[in-house]
Amino acid sequence: MEKIAKLIVDGTTYELPIVTGSEGEKAIDISSLREETGLITLDPGFANTGSCQSSITFMDGEKGILRYRGIPVEQLAEHSRFVETVYLLINGDLPTGEELDRFSALLNDHSLVHEDMRAFFENYPRGTHPMGILSSMVNALRAFYPEIPERTEEEEINKTVARLLSKVRTLAAMSYRISRGHKVVYPRHDLLYCANFLNMMFDSPVKPYVFDDDVVKALNVFWILHADHEQNSSTAAVRLVGSSRVNLYAAISAGIAALWGPLHGGANQAVVEMLQEIYNCGGDLSPFLTKAKDKNDPFRLMGFGHRVYKTYDPRARIMKRMCDKVLKKLKRKDPLLDIAKKLEEIALKDPYFIEHHLYPNVDFYSGIVLRSIGIPLNMFPVMFAIGRLPGWISQWKESHEDPNWKLHRPRQVYTGRKERDYVPIEKRG
Ligand code: SDX
Repeated sequence: MEKIAKLIVDGTTYELPIVTGSEGEKAIDISSLREETGLITLDPGFANTGSCQSSITFMDGEKGILRYRGIPVEQLAEHSRFVETVYLLINGDLPTGEELDRFSALLNDHSLVHEDMRAFFENYPRGTHPMGILSSMVNALRAFYPEIPERTEEEEINKTVARLLSKVRTLAAMSYRISRGHKVVYPRHDLLYCANFLNMMFDSPVKPYVFDDDVVKALNVFWILHADHEQNSSTAAVRLVGSSRVNLYAAISAGIAALWGPLHGGANQAVVEMLQEIYNCGGDLSPFLTKAKDKNDPFRLMGFGHRVYKTYDPRARIMKRMCDKVLKKLKRKDPLLDIAKKLEEIALKDPYFIEHHLYPNVDFYSGIVLRSIGIPLNMFPVMFAIGRLPGWISQWKESHEDPNWKLHRPRQVYTGRKERDYVPIEKRG
């Protein structure tokens, strides 16, 4: 029996259907609201607004649950590798051994980029943030790989997906190498996805990169944990831009731009910058906690809080354990990890953070993991983007294949001047 919501406006009762998801989430379907009532809804930041129905990722913010296609992220982090999780998100099920080998080979085939792209990197002003470069380069891919009319739409999409998944990783490593004036390292056919990235980043003619299985595993887990997160800001950007039926490269470029912001994917870099500042100030946490709680101070405790999670982000738990594991394996200590743990311990007992349901999110410990494997600070958001790419692609595909697809075009409530006439310039004054 379909449930109904009743809305009474000026004495008239309107009935709106209630949609129930497979995990029992309920939503009022307002798609006929304006037509029936003349009213629209208003929800700045969309905290109460669902933009779509999706079968890709389930989150329960109160219980701290995250599942990709029904599989808990904890199990994927434990047992899967990134490319297998990519396949799961995009195709809906885990691959067989043969399907995974074929998929891995497909990504390998598309791992090179057009040599002319190097000129783009070499002419970028030194010091440009890698997220700005990546967003431009991904948009530029369309120019190098134009649509082939003879291909079916499905063939075109599958090729574009494989190119993006493999080339974005190559572009990120190239960007780093060229920014340091180092020789570009090409992808190798004999390395799997994550090991290939580490080799492209750090291999050197005078000091060949030495693989550590725990570091490769840590990178697989890092990217698995970032792979999708339902309708977060950058995914919403990909769906919105994609809804205009622009090519997928452009939609992904928009997602990278949205992720760049310090309140979203840029937070992993901002967390380490904050921890470094605390370290440089002698490790005294109280001024930072005081600023974070001061309503008149724009400072936020980076890596804390979440629009959906009102408890510990399940990804942060795994990331925190990974910090200890990788640092121990590499026989390193990171004073920023000690500061982060102390900050978490104090914040979780502080009434402000408790009342505001502020817990560590995925970004709080992720930067420490990246530091431990040698990723430079300004590439932290790029690492998030490589991880989130399969999520953006799977969400874009779901939107693209939706028979009820609509161009995203929100409404507004106008609060400006009422009608008035144009005043000739000589009469203004
Ligand atoms: C990601 O959406 C996703 O799924 C994102 C993500 C993903 O995988 O895609 O999980 C990745 O972006 C994680 C979040 C990374 N960002 C940060 O760590 C930046 C710091 N966090 C905040 O800016 C904030 O918590 C947000 C932006 C993440 C969420 O904030 P909301 O839901 O918009 O809530 P809000 O800004 O309206 O804050 C509500 C209250 C406010 O206080 P009051 O005015 O109500 O008294 O909580 C306070 C805020 O001041 N608050 C914080 C805080 N976060 C919220 N106070 C201090 N420090 C913080 N970090």
